[in-house]
Amino acid sequence: MGNPARQVVQTPIVYVPTTLKLSDEVFRLLRDFIYQKTGIYFQDTKKYLLEGRIGKRIQLLDMSGFDEYLQLLRGPQGTHELPFLYEAVTINETYFFRNEPQFDVFERILIPEIITRHQYNGRPRVRIWSAASSSGEEAYTVALIYLERLKPKYPLLDIEIIGTDINNAVLDVARAGVYSEYSIRNVPRPYLDKYFEYEGGKYYLADHVKQLVRFEHLNLYDRNKMRRMTHFDVVFCCNVLIYFDMKSKIQVVSDIYDAMNSGGYLFIGYAETLHGISSAFKLINFPKTVVYKKE
Ligand SMILES: C[S@@+](CC[C@H](N)C(=O)[O-])C[C@H]1O[C@@H](n2cnc3c(N)ncnc32)[C@H](O)[C@@H]1O
Repeated sequence: MGNPARQVVQTPIVYVPTTLKLSDEVFRLLRDFIYQKTGIYFQDTKKYLLEGRIGKRIQLLDMSGFDEYLQLLRGPQGTHELPFLYEAVTINETYFFRNEPQFDVFERILIPEIITRHQYNGRPRVRIWSAASSSGEEAYTVALIYLERLKPKYPLLDIEIIGTDINNAVLDVARAGVYSEYSIRNVPRPYLDKYFEYEGGKYYLADHVKQLVRFEHLNLYDRNKMRRMTHFDVVFCCNVLIYFDMKSKIQVVSDIYDAMNSGGYLFIGYAETLHGISSAFKLINFPKTVVYKKE
């Protein structure tokens, strides 16, 4: 047990009842603040969520209430508090092989097509971005598919996988690669036996899998930072657009479009659509999934 990664344990989000009350007025101010920073928009019906989650943070800081917390966010120390705010307000639900038809299309149709036209120094090269990676399961699913299915077929394939998220705490979990039963429940048995080690109720991802993915902090709503993301062939931006309003969806999808190579593919969540958000992509239908192509 010399591996320091084994000290990191993925903690489920616990809703602690808080006695702090969030007034409608301060709710709106907080909601607007969060929206301006992240693009995440909390409807009036989600007030209880901010009350519970931020209330817990306020108690931890030993503050008097939401007013004082808002002052902190707006004051000179506000920048330091932002990562904690992002941890408090994001929903990080994810698991390996979450949307299997997507990964199937990715492996069987998209990758063979991309590598016929994307060569670098005579080697096929593919850049993949998990754009709201949470604790890493989506990006590592791509890495597992590469090791198990793509590498044997395309031994020269040069693959680069990047996972980004706004929440530093989930990025730490991703880098540690230690998962619960919940996260791995869709992992096929042969992959589990080959690439994970089970110990003390946790699944430890093998180092050579972890080394295939680079995790970085990125706020999808930060246009300056988004400009640095370039030349991606496949982007997974799944189950995050649902938290944005129309204006932030349009901005984020447009910046993702700019970050992609021509001929690149974008996946979004099963329940999400680009209808009314972007007409720049060509929608391609597959039996159980769709993908958006930048032509
Ligand atoms: C529900 S998880 C989706 C994880 C994974 N993509 C999946 O589909 O399983 C949504 C993730 O989006 C992240 N997120 C929310 N707003 C974001 C933003 N403005 N920039 C980057 N990540 C954001 C959250 O921190 C969270 O980890």
